[in-house]
Amino acid sequence: MSSLMGCILNRRSIRSYTSQKVEPEDIKKILTAASWAPSGNNLQPWKFSVVMNDENLIKELSSLTIFQNCLESSPCLIAVFLDTKTIDNQIQGIYLKHVLAIGAAIQNMLLVAQEIGLGTCWIGEILKNEDKVKKLLGASDDLELMAVITVGYSAIDSITSDRRDLADSIISWL
Ligand SMILES: Cc1cc2nc3c(=O)[nH]c(=O)nc-3n(C[C@H](O)[C@H](O)[C@H](O)COP(=O)(O)O)c2cc1C
Repeated sequence: MSSLMGCILNRRSIRSYTSQKVEPEDIKKILTAASWAPSGNNLQPWKFSVVMNDENLIKELSSLTIFQNCLESSPCLIAVFLDTKTIDNQIQGIYLKHVLAIGAAIQNMLLVAQEIGLGTCWIGEILKNEDKVKKLLGASDDLELMAVITVGYSAIDSITSDRRDLADSIISWL
């Protein structure tokens, strides 16, 4: 099933990848999906840094998270940044709005990757080392690290993460 609902239901975080490289065209597709996410005032406050041609750099980035094995086996990492130059921090609450847009962009990435047969994992734990990640990637001061996404072909046969009953999440239906 590769309908949208199929991609949503079948996507799972993949933390182990085969050595198969990913095609730059597929990464472009994933970034295109990200760029069509909704954003407040259509500011499109995202920036991406792709690492797929430098194994040493992938290794160095891997060492910055307890999910080292996941990053290290991944043939491609995409760092996702919030571009603070494009947003206005003066009004309270606005910052959160732009962070949410980044989340929407990332979810688009994960779903399109699922559609084209690629596994992904959204790595937030690495944010504790934002400064080091930015330094390794040569990212400017205006950019705030939001996540690193691993992309590759899954080395896992079956995945079991589940969800609680939908009824537990609905607090009212009036
Ligand atoms: C904001 C955010 C941060 C996450 N950070 C990590 C992470 O650092 N390492 C990791 O392995 N998974 C991370 N995940 C993936 C979640 O663990 C995963 O989505 C959740 O357990 C549900 O499993 P599933 O994606 O397989 O459905 C993160 C997900 C989100 C949305």
